[in-house]
This record gives sequence, C-alpha cells and structure tokens, in this order.
Amino acid sequence: MTHRITLIPGDGIGPEISEVTASAVEATGVRCEWDYQIAGMTGVTQLGTPIPDATVASIRERRVALKGPLTTPVGSGYRSVNVALRREFELFANVRPAKTILPGRYDGIDIVLVRENLEGFYTGIEHWIATKDDPRAAGVTTGVTTRHGCERIIRYAFDYAISRGRKKVTIVHKANILKMVSGLFLETGRAVAEEYRDRIESNDMIVDNCAMQIVLKPEQFDVIVTTNLFGDILSDEISGLVGGLGLAPGANIGTTASIFEAVHGSAPDIAGQDLANPSAQMLAAALMLEHIGEPAAGARLRNAVIDTIVVDRVRTRDLGGTAGTSEFGRRVAERAAG
Ligand SMILES: NC(=O)c1ccc[n+]([C@@H]2O[C@H](COP(=O)([O-])OP(=O)(O)OC[C@H]3O[C@@H](n4cnc5c(N)ncnc54)[C@H](O)[C@@H]3O)[C@@H](O)[C@H]2O)c1
Repeated sequence: MTHRITLIPGDGIGPEISEVTASAVEATGVRCEWDYQIAGMTGVTQLGTPIPDATVASIRERRVALKGPLTTPVGSGYRSVNVALRREFELFANVRPAKTILPGRYDGIDIVLVRENLEGFYTGIEHWIATKDDPRAAGVTTGVTTRHGCERIIRYAFDYAISRGRKKVTIVHKANILKMVSGLFLETGRAVAEEYRDRIESNDMIVDNCAMQIVLKPEQFDVIVTTNLFGDILSDEISGLVGGLGLAPGANIGTTASIFEAVHGSAPDIAGQDLANPSAQMLAAALMLEHIGEPAAGARLRNAVIDTIVVDRVRTRDLGGTAGTSEFGRRVAERAAG
C-alpha cells in the first residue's frame, strides 16, 4: 500500500530536516507518495499567504501531514499558522512523548504529555484597551474552556494511557486561581477519572507544583493531561529532561486530520548550515507511521535514530557531536533500511 501524505518542509531549518526525514521514512520500506506544500514565511514569500489554499486542500484530502517548523513573527504580523491549522482541522490533542535517549542529568524519563490544543488562552480572543495617550495601554486575552473540550481531551488521555499499557494519568490545572477556565477542566477531569477508576490510577496537581515536581521527582509522572498554555510550557520543560528540543516530537491529533511535527521551531540562527538535528522530526515521523497503521516501520525508524545517537555515537552539534544534518540523516536511513 502507498500512503499519501502531505509534506510541508517549513521555514528555516525545516527543509533540511524534512528532506532527510522523508528519506529515512522511505528507508523503512514503507511506500509514501509525498505531496509537497508550503506554509509560513515560505508561503508569504512565494504565494503571499502563510496558509495557501492548496496546502489546506492537500491536508483535507490526505488527512495526514508531516510538517516542518514554521516561523511566526513575534508581537505583530500574521497569526501563528500552527494555531490556524489546529483550528482548521480541529486538532484537539497535542501528544508529546519524552523518553530518555542519552542518559544525562536525568535517566529513565518516560513521560507523555497530552495537551488540549484548541481552547484556553489560545483562542485568539484578544484586544487592546486604549487611553487618550496610549492606544495599547492594556492588553486583554480571554481564555475559554468548554465542558466538551475538557471531556474530549481528558478521555483521549485516559484511553491513550490504557491502550499503551501506561499506569497513571495526572490531571494538571490551576483551579485554585482560575476558578472557571481551569476549574471546569479539573471538575471534568475528576468525573472522567472516576469512570476509569478500575482501569487506571490517576491524580491531579496544580501546575506550579507540577513544574517543580517535574525537575525534582520526574519518575512520579507517566501520562500528564492539561490545558493549552500549561501544556505548551510543561512539554518544553519535559523535553529539557531528555536532552532538549532536538529530540522532542509531537503529534497533533484531530477529528478530520492529524499533523506530525518536531516540537522545536525554525531555528533561524542555524538554518541552511547543515547544523540542525533532524532527530525530533524523525521521531515525529515515527509517530506518524504508527498512526497510519505502520507500527513496525515506526519502531524501526525510532530505533534507528536512538542507535545512531547511542550506539554509533553519531551526533549533531547540539548533542555535543560533529555530524551535520545530512550525515546524521544518511546514517539513520542506513540503520532504518537494516
Ligand atoms: N512548530 C512550529 O512550527 C514552531 C514551534 C516553535 C517555534 N516556532 C517558530 O520558530 C521561530 C524561532 O523560534 P525560537 O528561536 O523561539 O525557537 P527554536 O526552537 O527555533 O530555537 C531555539 C534554539 O534551539 C535551537 N534548535 C531548535 N531546533 C533545533 C534543532 N533541530 N537542532 C539543533 N538546534 C535546534 C536553535 O538553534 C535555537 O538556538 C519563531 O518564528 C517561532 O514562532 C515554530
């Protein structure tokens, strides 16, 4: 079977890491027909829009995309393309597994963070409040959580944990202060946890305590489920436990499509220099292979990345090595081809 997948190479280091990732996927023996599309800054430069219609149409038709990082201007300019794609395809669950590859400051980390991807403070409902002399005297951003959105992501996390033989789900919130926007998440979470009580252990934790516990006692966590903003921050913190952003993949799971990507950004400081670590993009591609029904190829790709780093000791500069993106990619593809 040939899998029809939308491939968005992205901005900055995106094209470099996407090229070697596509080759490594093909090396597993899985047949892919890639539909190359553009977005982000590349979309603006080439077609005058960060989300060209052809890109959206391709994802809608193929229902699965592998996406490189996209540049978002800070403070002004167009809104995040990633946030827009999440809305367009109702990508409600952002799943970020973090597992130790290179033993370092922390060993044996194996945490999956499940982040609600559409609600909270990322709804884009915001405005400025002007005074006589300052048009931006105050900024207002409205956070929204719905019972439906909370229940959907929390059930997803519990089902994900059970289907993968995980032991525990931790519901992370700030219901003591944000009594409505976060209170609803906790209330819904406790009700869902009660339903699953016989099948999996669960607890809940306030986000600031959770941020500390992650560095103090990370072994207490298995699957974490939380709202959008907290998940954004905690997932980067957790990726720091396993060697940083260069090794952190993410899956955006939706009702009509799913998009797989590295957690890191477009890294403009090292773009075009053959310095980027493509591991996170490759690990995201491994999640994609599992999602499209190719779990053996997904495992082979993930193991190829791990063995290249750990056994062959071939590493990019961010992991203390000297290999370039293309050399690292070639070595992973050789292992994936086995
Ligand atoms: N999913 C996405 O598309 C996504 C995610 C985060 C940030 N961004 C965008 O990326 C741009 C740059 O953001 P930033 O600088 O805050 O974060 P970044 O992740 O691009 O870079 C942070 C640091 O990590 C390094 N780095 C990142 N990925 C690396 C890799 N694969 N290999 C080696 N080093 C790597 C960079 O060189 C930089 O020093 C912004 O426009 C931001 O909006 C996009």
